Amino acid sequence: MNTKLNFKALPAVFLLPATAFASTSTAELYSNIFRDAYFWLFLLVAVLLLLAYYSVKRAFDTIAAVMNPKTASADSLEATEVEEEEKESAFMRWYKGFAGLKPMAKEKDMLLDHDYDGIMELDNALPPWWLYGFYVTIAIAVGYLLHYHVLGTGKLQMDEYRAEIQRAEVEVAAYFEKLGGMVDENNVTLVEDAGRLANGKTIYQNNCVACHAADGGGGVGPNLADEYWIHGGSINDIFRIIKYGATDKGMIAWKDILGPQDMQDVASYVMSFQGNEPANPKEPQGEKM
Ligand code: HEC
Repeated sequence: MNTKLNFKALPAVFLLPATAFASTSTAELYSNIFRDAYFWLFLLVAVLLLLAYYSVKRAFDTIAAVMNPKTASADSLEATEVEEEEKESAFMRWYKGFAGLKPMAKEKDMLLDHDYDGIMELDNALPPWWLYGFYVTIAIAVGYLLHYHVLGTGKLQMDEYRAEIQRAEVEVAAYFEKLGGMVDENNVTLVEDAGRLANGKTIYQNNCVACHAADGGGGVGPNLADEYWIHGGSINDIFRIIKYGATDKGMIAWKDILGPQDMQDVASYVMSFQGNEPANPKEPQGEKM
């Protein structure tokens, strides 16, 4: 009976973690590998696999020994085992104790007293790799619960999602800042930044008050504070009418006078009139939005 570890398989098993880094350059690999959580995870899996392999192999060896007529009798089994035990390494002795493995000759003591048509059951200890793996999952579950649901130190999926969206929004804003000249009626967004709204107000006061009144109440031009719009009430619609105007109706096209970002600022300022009560409101024009 061969219960010794097959160390030929060992190097292959310990190479397993390397598969996590298949696409990394060698220099990077060695500088980062021990800091990477995946390395340790794969290593753990490799060790567990090795233990699982050993347990299964031992079970097969045992079955093979029982089936073998030369070693099948209890006496000769005991003899072989005693002989083997003498040859055993300190590690194997420790492992057998750790795993709760009993010598085959003692199998009689482990027999449970059921007998189903000659099929008997042994009260074997659980394989340690399984048992301790199970304990580890319990410990992880407790840690997980505390970390995410009790102490709140961990970010739940929803928070992670929001944080990511926030980060992306900042990036998008920075991107548009850089490409300020590229704001157009399709990608324009409502500006909420106080500084830019102040800029919109200044532009409005310098260019638009004559026809739309300082409070947006209207005059030559329509009321901008009500919910009625001739050209649409979204930020895109307002940007479009400011940019291209309605020259035949008296609204100037501002695209050659104001830059894209200034038009965005004044359009956002115009939207801030919504809900105001102008002093002399012009009667509604267009459709309610
Ligand atoms: C010379 C007068 C005049 C000036 C100056 C003027 N507008 Fe107008 N504006 C109009 C008129 C007239 C209309 C209505 C066009 C129509 O009936 O299609 C209009 C329409 C609009 C509309 C669309 C309203 C709706 O109901 O759809 C917006 C928004 C607007 N103007 C914003 C501005 C802004 C912002 C400025 C300053 C940068 C400005 N206007 C300057 C005359 C003016």
